[in-house]
Amino acid sequence: MTEYTKLALDEEAETGVDQFLRESRVKTKGLRLFGWEFTNARFLILQLVLLVLYTVIFHVFSEKFAPRYHGANLFYSPAREAVKYEITHFNATLWIDSPYVQPPSPETDKAWHDLVDNSNIVLPASEMKKANITSIPVPNQPGMYFSELGMFHELHCLKRLRQYMYPEYYFPQLSQEEVRLNRMHNDHCIEVLRQGVMCRGDISLVTIRWQASQKLPVADFSAPHECVNFDSLNEWARERRINAMEPGLLVHPTLGPSYPDGNNPTLGAAESTEKFVPSPIEED
Ligand SMILES: *[C@@H]1O[C@H](CO)[C@@H](O)[C@H](O)[C@H]1NC(C)=O
Ligand SMILES: *[C@@H]1O[C@H](CO)[C@@H](O)[C@H](O)[C@H]1NC(C)=O
Repeated sequence: MTEYTKLALDEEAETGVDQFLRESRVKTKGLRLFGWEFTNARFLILQLVLLVLYTVIFHVFSEKFAPRYHGANLFYSPAREAVKYEITHFNATLWIDSPYVQPPSPETDKAWHDLVDNSNIVLPASEMKKANITSIPVPNQPGMYFSELGMFHELHCLKRLRQYMYPEYYFPQLSQEEVRLNRMHNDHCIEVLRQGVMCRGDISLVTIRWQASQKLPVADFSAPHECVNFDSLNEWARERRINAMEPGLLVHPTLGPSYPDGNNPTLGAAESTEKFVPSPIEED
């Protein structure tokens, strides 16, 4: 019984092949579609053209409309749209000539000032809610809240630590109490930068090499790094920038204007044991 069934299937299969052969012999002239006659070669070329066309269309559309998330994407940030990764070579020799590594001068101060110029930004309630954060509302912009990208806080910390190397220029005539507060602020900065460096975990590779005149090997920092494009993030922040020091803009509910003279007169450090009370985000 089994044998018979198998035979029958084989016969059927053979018949099928025969039929196909016969049909293909009949249709040597080609396939007719929409009044066009396609030879095998023409059909193949058409398929290739369509494949290229669809591939191009797919790439154009996916570039244009797909959300471009970068990094691990573990949380929401409205700035993620401005994150672009690229290979970067550091300027990391010991004898470096950088506008940021100079003794105190108006030029050096301006270079650092420009780096952190877009620190204070405003974000709409919808983005605050998506990010699950709260902040102080901007008085003259309903539905907008004060914020800052973490990158700028880290740059602020570096700027401050550099100033700390020249206390006679940047922090002259501090009282003992001010010296203590200044160190507290800088300790905070060292700690934030330590956590930031360990957070990003740069996996580029530092190597060593010999120099003719030195017995000790020297480190080679020239390996490329995987970096976000600073200009892109900075531009994103610039579009949302606000001058938070504008007199009368930030006003404490009971103690009055925070920066009545348009600048921060303190060392930026204060001790407080009060519990921080977040204010709810309200859509405009
Ligand atoms: C290195 O220095 C050059 C010349 O000053 C500058 O154009 C470049 O942006 C610097 N690279 C980095 C990563 O800072
Ligand atoms: C939002 O933040 C609060 C307070 O930090 C936290 O308890 C809560 O789990 C967060 N919600 C989400 C969805 O992450």
